[in-house]
Amino acid sequence: MKIVKVSDYQEMSEWAGKQVVQKVNELSKPILGLATGSTPEGLYQYLIDAYKNEEVSFKNVTTFNLDEYIGLDSDDPNSYRYFMNEKLFNHIDIDPNNVHLPNGVADDLEKECKDYEAAIKEVGAIDLQILGLGVNGHIAFNEPGTSFESRTQITDLVEETIEANSRFFDNKEDVPTQAITMGIKTIMESKEIILLASGENKAQAVKQLIEGEVTENFPASILHHHPQVTIVIDQAAASLLK
Ligand code: F6R
Repeated sequence: MKIVKVSDYQEMSEWAGKQVVQKVNELSKPILGLATGSTPEGLYQYLIDAYKNEEVSFKNVTTFNLDEYIGLDSDDPNSYRYFMNEKLFNHIDIDPNNVHLPNGVADDLEKECKDYEAAIKEVGAIDLQILGLGVNGHIAFNEPGTSFESRTQITDLVEETIEANSRFFDNKEDVPTQAITMGIKTIMESKEIILLASGENKAQAVKQLIEGEVTENFPASILHHHPQVTIVIDQAAASLLK
């Protein structure tokens, strides 16, 4: 596990942005795994700027997002599909057919999970997966206690996650209580992983990730077993490290 310490959010976003641009330029058909939430917004802005400056093209890129709320369709401003369109896809030259997010309003949600997993298998493997870190150690929406063997599945969001994500909604009651999430095993099959964490509210989780034991009670800890993972943390997120 490589640890990269940067000064602040901006530097974290730029560091990660450069890695993504390099990966996209290096491969003929790059497969990216993407996250939503506050953490990667700066990274996505970096990618938009790099595209506008003609440093990179996303024409041959395929993406798979980590998760989607159940019950929100793509027109809902709180759906992750909407978020990704707004924050990245609408501003770059990616082929919409190459963009994948689970469908949170599918008639058959179990089938949707299986199909999503199969779609990833079909392209081979994710070349570079971007992750954020939940305050409770979740990666994607794999909450504490999720099996390290898990595949794309329906998950119940825990109270802490609903509370943390309620900042995006008018009322806490509006936050969906379930999501479709890539599994931990699915994520671990990515060839390379970059986890980003910024800010004081992530400091305890970052400490547990880096200094704690590998346990299903702290899902991100599995990353210690991945051969090519980089944790990029800013000063505030690193503030509790030994
Ligand atoms: C989002 C996701 C989540 C977030 C995590 C941190 O697709 O999978 O695991 O990465 O909840 O969220 P932020 O970045 O909003 O602090």
